[in-house]
Amino acid sequence: MNVKQRTLSGMQSSGRLHLGNYMGALVNWVRLQSSHDAFFFIADWHALSTNYEDTSRVRDFTREMVVDWLAAGLDPEQCTIFQQSRVPEHAILHVLFSMITPLPWLERNPTYKDQQANIGDRDLATYGFLGYPVLQAADILLYRPQQVPVGVDQLPHVELTREIARRFNHLYGEVFPIPQTPLTETPKLPGLDGRKMSKSYGNAVFLCDSPQERWDKVRTMVTDPQRVRRTDPGDPEVCPVYGLHEAFSDPVTRQEVAEGCRTAGIGCIDCKKRLNGFLDERFTPIYERRQEIVADRGRVEGVIIDGSEKAAKVAAETLAQVYDAMHIPPFTR
Ligand code: TRP
Ligand code: SF4
Repeated sequence: MNVKQRTLSGMQSSGRLHLGNYMGALVNWVRLQSSHDAFFFIADWHALSTNYEDTSRVRDFTREMVVDWLAAGLDPEQCTIFQQSRVPEHAILHVLFSMITPLPWLERNPTYKDQQANIGDRDLATYGFLGYPVLQAADILLYRPQQVPVGVDQLPHVELTREIARRFNHLYGEVFPIPQTPLTETPKLPGLDGRKMSKSYGNAVFLCDSPQERWDKVRTMVTDPQRVRRTDPGDPEVCPVYGLHEAFSDPVTRQEVAEGCRTAGIGCIDCKKRLNGFLDERFTPIYERRQEIVADRGRVEGVIIDGSEKAAKVAAETLAQVYDAMHIPPFTR
């Protein structure tokens, strides 16, 4: 029998997605959904770890993100789309894991140290922020997946998940398979100003940008700063426009543009127009689908509710095994 491998991944809800998120995760998810028993969820509790002071938009963020997922091609007939906070088992397993997770494992987590240093405007010396990866371990292990496809930035968290799973299995018996992280090529996408594309840098093209908005952004993008006049040759390697060509254009175009840039045979506006053609081809259909989905509020709600119900069944089964292994009485009311 050909049993599909279970795959699980999630995103912290932070609102609309940009092309970097799309290339970094979504494309991959869409590809996996038909060949795997796939679960994708919105980590809305995780979003509170850094945004606990202003929670007014958390609900909208969840919705907006699911709209983007559906527009990009995730299909609730093929995969399970759910919301963390609708499956309270995540919180229960988090508490149990918190009992067996040594504090130094959390304190040496590179993401923890990084974010504490970078997000200077908020007080992140909280219990929830330190415990972020413990909740993530619960998210993952509740579904006993073989695979957790994530970007490199999440690898320390999944490694910690494996350590928690091993420790649990060692203490109470084999309940959790140790999940793998398939490493997929995810090009780091440059943003409009040449830095990495990121919502917080204000340099992103969003899936919800209209074709006109998208072109306005591309048209005014930073280019090779040495190429001042049309007759100056440029260097595609230092130009973020070329960085986007590498992600989205076909090989012939990439070759022609790079050559034209180095010999001053092509102007920057033409170069950007050619890029925009490829962006249009890929993202205008997503934009149009998005418009339809946004108009249908009930549909998005329905996807989240149905998916969360399916997820909760799996979560409850795992939790029953956990309780059994730990000699905690089964959960009944
Ligand atoms: N930490 C992830 C992010 O920042 C979100 C996340 C939470 C997650 N739990 C997860 C990802 C479990 C994969 C598996 O986007
Ligand atoms: Fe960048 Fe293209 Fe201009 Fe070269 S021609 S500097 S690659 S925009």
